[in-house]
Amino acid sequence: MRVSSPPSYQWTALFVLLSAFCTLFTPAVSVKYENFKTCDQAGFCKRNRAYADEAAATSSWKAPFALAPDTLSWKNGQLKGTILKTINTIGETEKRQKGEIELRHNSKVRKERYNEVESWAIVGGLGLSRNAAESRDAEKTTVTYGPDGKFEAVITFAPFGIDFKRDSATQIKFNDRGLINIEQWRPKIDRGVPEKKEGEEETPVPEVPAGEDESTWWDESFGGQTDSKPKGPESVSLDITFPGYEHVFGIPEHAGPLSLRETRGGTGAHTDPYRLYNADVFEYIMDSSMTLYGAIPFMQAQKKDSTVGVFWMNAAETWIDIIKEKEAHNPLSLGIGSKTDTKTHWFSESGLIDVFVFLGPTPKDVTKAYGELTGYTQLPQEFAIAYHQCRWNYNSDEDVKDVDRKMSKHQIPYDVIWLDIEYTDEKKYFTWDPLTFTNPIGMLEQLDKSDRKLVAIIDPHIKNTDNYPVVSELKSKDLAVHNKDGNIYEGWCWPGSSHWIDCFNPAAIKWWIGLFKYSAFTSLPNLFIWNDMNEPSVFNGPETTMPKDNIHHDNWEHRDVHNLNGLTFVNATYQAMLERKKGEIRRPFVLTRSFYAGSQRMGAMWTGDNQANWDHLAAGFPMIINNGISGFPFAGADVGGFFGNPEKDLLTRWYQAGAFYPFFRGHAHIDTRRREPYLAGEPYTGIITQALRLRYALLPAWYTAFHEASVNGTPILRPHYFVYPSDESAFAIDDQFFVGSTGLLAKPVVTEGATSVDIYIPDSEVYYDYFDFEKYQGQGHKTVQAPLEKIPLLMQGGHIIPRKDRPRRSSGLMKWDPYTLVVVLGNEGTASGKLYVDDGETFDYQTGAFIHRSFNFKNGVLASSNLGTKGKLTDKYIKTMKNVGVERVVIVGAPKEWASKASVKVGGAEAGIEFHAEEGGKAAWAVVKNPKVAIGEDWKIEF
Ligand code: NOJ
Repeated sequence: MRVSSPPSYQWTALFVLLSAFCTLFTPAVSVKYENFKTCDQAGFCKRNRAYADEAAATSSWKAPFALAPDTLSWKNGQLKGTILKTINTIGETEKRQKGEIELRHNSKVRKERYNEVESWAIVGGLGLSRNAAESRDAEKTTVTYGPDGKFEAVITFAPFGIDFKRDSATQIKFNDRGLINIEQWRPKIDRGVPEKKEGEEETPVPEVPAGEDESTWWDESFGGQTDSKPKGPESVSLDITFPGYEHVFGIPEHAGPLSLRETRGGTGAHTDPYRLYNADVFEYIMDSSMTLYGAIPFMQAQKKDSTVGVFWMNAAETWIDIIKEKEAHNPLSLGIGSKTDTKTHWFSESGLIDVFVFLGPTPKDVTKAYGELTGYTQLPQEFAIAYHQCRWNYNSDEDVKDVDRKMSKHQIPYDVIWLDIEYTDEKKYFTWDPLTFTNPIGMLEQLDKSDRKLVAIIDPHIKNTDNYPVVSELKSKDLAVHNKDGNIYEGWCWPGSSHWIDCFNPAAIKWWIGLFKYSAFTSLPNLFIWNDMNEPSVFNGPETTMPKDNIHHDNWEHRDVHNLNGLTFVNATYQAMLERKKGEIRRPFVLTRSFYAGSQRMGAMWTGDNQANWDHLAAGFPMIINNGISGFPFAGADVGGFFGNPEKDLLTRWYQAGAFYPFFRGHAHIDTRRREPYLAGEPYTGIITQALRLRYALLPAWYTAFHEASVNGTPILRPHYFVYPSDESAFAIDDQFFVGSTGLLAKPVVTEGATSVDIYIPDSEVYYDYFDFEKYQGQGHKTVQAPLEKIPLLMQGGHIIPRKDRPRRSSGLMKWDPYTLVVVLGNEGTASGKLYVDDGETFDYQTGAFIHRSFNFKNGVLASSNLGTKGKLTDKYIKTMKNVGVERVVIVGAPKEWASKASVKVGGAEAGIEFHAEEGGKAAWAVVKNPKVAIGEDWKIEF
């Protein structure tokens, strides 16, 4: 077991390494539900829940785990020690660590517990905190660490437990309920009827020890398939309590509210724990703790003015129970001032207990430290945050070209058109259907004329067929996943019989890179990749995925690495897309369905196969927001809904919502009617086009938010609690959000027939309607009118929002367009904002080719100043941008004294200003036209 607790920047103070478990003697002590296991059907889940029940029911319960004080050592901020488990059979855990055990069925899999999640999920932040200190007494040891030594870990020896404190107050408790459990390795005892030879005495059948249920230890069957479990039971579990914290967020991916529900008892509780076992869940349902396609075992807990978090670094199937316990301080207080403890219980089928603890105190501190550990989100190419037009399928290269022309004709901006599986020659990836995609290069060239791109799908299943060099090489080079008998694994997916590339294998990654070279896959640099089905989805596999006893590179069982599988596939594709031709290095764009902690470094994700109904539209934001606070903000949902045909008002509302998804793509199932925006007819096409243009106008603000996420892990859609961690009554809000640091507060309509929404105003700042500058002020809910053509979108006073207002066909064509700066004056008459710009495609920004500006309006002066540090390419880049200027400055909430102003001073020159007086509830505003200032330079405009 390893426990690490990072201070916010420099990590880590504390490690407790459980190096061995010795044996001691002991005291007597709508979805197809049927396709997926409930907790009761997953042996280790049931066992661990039963263990928790037994502990709760036993007044004298003590976890049978104790830290042996004489094994403790402290060096350079690292504490190591051995924890002993008291058990009632002879266990072999220490032997297992050394590989000295016998596995069943002559299995060739590794005998140790899987200990390589770190090499995929972690990229930094593991430096030890040198100024940490340890002090010990007979019962416990205390480690002091973190900034100004304000964090403490108090480790009690027997039973083993840890209290994590900040400023002397306990924030997180490990093993508070005594549920820590590590199922030790043991040999299978044959409990069959013994053979009796003539004349011999009958040997008694060994009995199952009291209190043990062996029924799921040695094999498990589900849906007609049997898991051979060569290592027997080996689950790990721990209870983690957040005292005084009422809300917990995170552990995506689930369809449900941001604030996680209880899973055992309580009103509205789920009956099963939240499950993390990446799976292709067909027609998933709302508000459920069922697993979905991705897993990030990172949880944040929130109470007034404090945020803390834990990252449970384990890639095996995991379940998390949540209980909230209310405790009234004073029986007369009628609930006021009552305190809630959130008690969680984590269990994984195999692997290690390896937990990282984050002590905040702010949400930003937690997401920054988590990002430092698992990596910040990739800074995408700019086109990738514009609009993507997808469906299953565009049927031919002519079809693609036709859609492309029609989008242009209707003046509907889009950047990327997508090809689903049908573009291939009989589902053989890296090929084109010879009848329908006769000229892929011509198609790519047409798109390139408008600086548009194509994304093509490439899945991890490789068709098992003759005359397909990709599969022949996969087999001859032995780069596929194996079955339990060590033969190449065969299962069913889109192509029929298939094999799966094993991207845990470095040789497989190397081979995969070669497949994307232009010489191997006919295409051009404006082609990018979509990785789907990478949970992996196997149509005839248990729970639609791979058998757990399959074997990966280095003989690790699939069981141990399942939740990492999708990440490793995207990693291989990312590597392949970095440099398809020598010297042509570009930021890759890869969309993934399956993910794990760390996937954010490699691309975007989407929420999979949603449905064209209002419930699924509403579910998108909580899911995307939750992903964002869990380190993976480049997220979106299929606009329009994947299954089914959306009514036109649903489609229109969905585009308005999608304009606020970090990843914005329309997509539809093969059986649905075509629904490109120009087909909707008026007024819908016009309204959808307006939503798309809004996204394009705000691309500078979105790109700046992505940049911020890429350097400090701050989510792009920021939920209320994240921005207002003191406002406890509103922590659960998950249907409105701020966009980055722009001050834009959106609450897109997600309910049928709504003509207004109630937006929660969190403070006393003035807020303006984005479109007509109607003013809203005063904390609490305000009704904002929202007829079909209107997106409820406010601007918080005090911000400056960068935009580009000239409508174009694609974001690439906007590259040299001038900016509009919207100065939204706050209560103090001031405003500030940021802008980040670079070439939007290469890695030159890493050597200084970017512009990073701060805009400030104060005392009647708007000034632009530099935020960037100079690098090798800075001057050259700024030179290329010298003709890109500001064409308009709009001041919202302009003072009425400006009514008589005809001009403003810009350096030695002047620019005209136009004033618009306040009207009804709508604020006064002014516009400065063409101030002739460059975006990359310092300047001042005096009003
Ligand atoms: C499943 C994906 O979730 C969906 O988006 C895609 O269209 C189909 N696979 C076909 O590739």
